[in-house]
Amino acid sequence: MFVSALFKLGLLALPAVAGVVKRAGVAYYDPAHGGGSMLDNAGDGLGEPLNVIISGESSSEVLNEAGIINFAQAIGFSTECLGIHLGGPQSANLGDGNGWVNQTIEMREDYGSTGVGTCLESLIGGNHFRVFVQNGTSADSGALFLAVSKEEDVEEGHTIVPNGYDIGRDQFVTAALGTTSNNGVTYTTTAQNITGLMPAGSAGVNHNISIDGIVTLLTVTAS
Ligand SMILES: *[C@@H]1O[C@H](CO)[C@@H](O)[C@H](O)[C@H]1NC(C)=O
Ligand SMILES: *[C@@H]1O[C@H](CO)[C@@H](O)[C@H](O)[C@H]1NC(C)=O
Ligand SMILES: *[C@@H]1O[C@H](CO)[C@@H](O)[C@H](O)[C@H]1NC(C)=O
Ligand SMILES: *[C@@H]1O[C@H](CO)[C@@H](O)[C@H](O)[C@H]1NC(C)=O
Repeated sequence: MFVSALFKLGLLALPAVAGVVKRAGVAYYDPAHGGGSMLDNAGDGLGEPLNVIISGESSSEVLNEAGIINFAQAIGFSTECLGIHLGGPQSANLGDGNGWVNQTIEMREDYGSTGVGTCLESLIGGNHFRVFVQNGTSADSGALFLAVSKEEDVEEGHTIVPNGYDIGRDQFVTAALGTTSNNGVTYTTTAQNITGLMPAGSAGVNHNISIDGIVTLLTVTAS
């Protein structure tokens, strides 16, 4: 009881866990400063906007592959439906010295039980996102940059709905905000909009879809 109260007051810090990299506590670094871009590379010379950032000041357990999967499941996503993987991996340059790196993972909105639901998503369309990690040595925030979008259903060629990047972002953020939980981990998530980091408009954007240029920064605290 007493010890837990000290944790709450911030008077006691958790000991460093072996293998967990201690970072500077930076929310993110602007990729442009290191020659990167807030648009990923969709393989056709155009890109999808990196319209959500999971802040590097989030709990460290969220800022890795297993952590983002657990969080995404808490807010209604699951890993891609096996066998109906539509579309190749995309790459991003987060200006951290790693250059263009393929997405770590792609998650799709879960329409039912985890695993089967994502197969439905591939057929009827829905929200999905790709994850890129800003962890190169020259800008090691540990932040996760997400390209979030809302797709048409498969009969429409599985492309992004008109305005689908902004809509996808806003739906993702709405699902993430507040208190959520999965597998015994409880998340408290706050949001802040950033303007001026990503250009507005359709220049360079995949499918010629215009974006409002807003990036939403999420800070996720796990307990
Ligand atoms: C990225 O993905 C593409 C397409 O699957 C693949 O050809 C390429 O080798 C990958 N690059 C790296 C660095 O893994
Ligand atoms: C950076 O993140 C990627 C994707 O999760 C991972 O494969 C890689 O090992 C990480 N690099 C470092 C230095 O932690
Ligand atoms: C961020 O911008 C979107 C789009 O304008 C808006 O819907 C949302 O409420 C904003 N969120 C915050 C935290 O300001
Ligand atoms: C992109 O959309 C704009 C209008 O939003 C249009 O003027 C332009 O021709 C389109 N470009 C392509 C390549 O479809």
